[in-house]
Amino acid sequence: MTESSAATTLTPRQFQRAVLAWYDEHGRKDLPWQKKITPYRVWISEIMLQQTQVSTVIPYFERFMQRFPDVATLAAAPSDEVLHHWTGLGYYARARNLHKASKQIVNEFAGKFPKDIESLISLPGIGRSTAGAIASISMQLRAPILDGNVKRVLSRFYAIAGWPGERAVEQQLWRVAEELTPEDRLRDYTQVMMDLGATLCTRSKPRCSECPLQKQCIAHRNSTQHEYPGRKPKKTIPVKSTVMLLLENADGAILLEQRPPSGLWGGLWCPPQTDSHDDIAQTLKSLNLSGDNIVTLTPFRHTFSHFHLDITPIRIRVRPNERSVADAPHQRWILAHSPGRLGLAAPVKKLLSQLQ
Ligand code: ADE
Ligand code: SF4
Repeated sequence: MTESSAATTLTPRQFQRAVLAWYDEHGRKDLPWQKKITPYRVWISEIMLQQTQVSTVIPYFERFMQRFPDVATLAAAPSDEVLHHWTGLGYYARARNLHKASKQIVNEFAGKFPKDIESLISLPGIGRSTAGAIASISMQLRAPILDGNVKRVLSRFYAIAGWPGERAVEQQLWRVAEELTPEDRLRDYTQVMMDLGATLCTRSKPRCSECPLQKQCIAHRNSTQHEYPGRKPKKTIPVKSTVMLLLENADGAILLEQRPPSGLWGGLWCPPQTDSHDDIAQTLKSLNLSGDNIVTLTPFRHTFSHFHLDITPIRIRVRPNERSVADAPHQRWILAHSPGRLGLAAPVKKLLSQLQ
């Protein structure tokens, strides 16, 4: 942090006041799981909301509560019926875990939700953040949350760099989430942190001008909102290179060869390739061609899942040598603008279209 940003950051108390005042005016207060609040209802809503947006969840939540009004009913239900009530929400492991956890609550916790984070986390499908949401919203316990929304708000506000999938980054985010969590109004605080991330501090278009944290938000000050949270680092993959020979005959046709059925571009049609410029003469000779007017075109990169291929296209005007044979079965002369029904590798298609 720079000196100026450290000097103007908020104390936890000020942070809480700012976001809670915003909550009182703009926060969501009428969601179905915000009524008749119980640990069970909050739990079900949090699991449904993990990968699904609020508007989709609402009718599912209502139907689920009608059929399974409490944890004992859920635990006693046949799994088919639980899954049926999940149909359309996706990520069915969530429903299976829910059902398993309900039985565990009945059998191991006498049907009562445990009131500590460690026990909540011991239940299938409940991670640290979901445990924090259940504890803070339904029991008013001082427990931080750190879902995707909160990660975005906090990483921007404090300019915490790095990918949150990285242990050190996640730990730092948990540290500040913990530090900022108030002693009271836990329910509202948890809700507002989710609301800020979901409605103002959105991934692609944060509405900073309406945000109660705007004055002290470092990403806003530096206009670097889009750098947070840091993205997953791309794994480094090797770079290979090849030369593609665009051999053009007197008719303006280009020679393509069909690649062996298996391996890279298996069965597709490509121009003859060499490893380097030095092999060009050798390749021409083996094709029974003579060439002149050699032009190197702009090299470009094609990326496969496991390596980059830097392709240097070289165009050569060719004519058949004497005693040249007719087309071999795996060779065709084609016109760049009408390659016919041949299967072409993506970069070859691109090259041919550029040649026209
Ligand atoms: N997403 C996850 N939990 C939520 C909640 N309680 N309200 C709105 N969106 C949420
Ligand atoms: Fe997010 Fe902008 Fe608010 Fe910062 S000021 S927390 S970037 S919405």
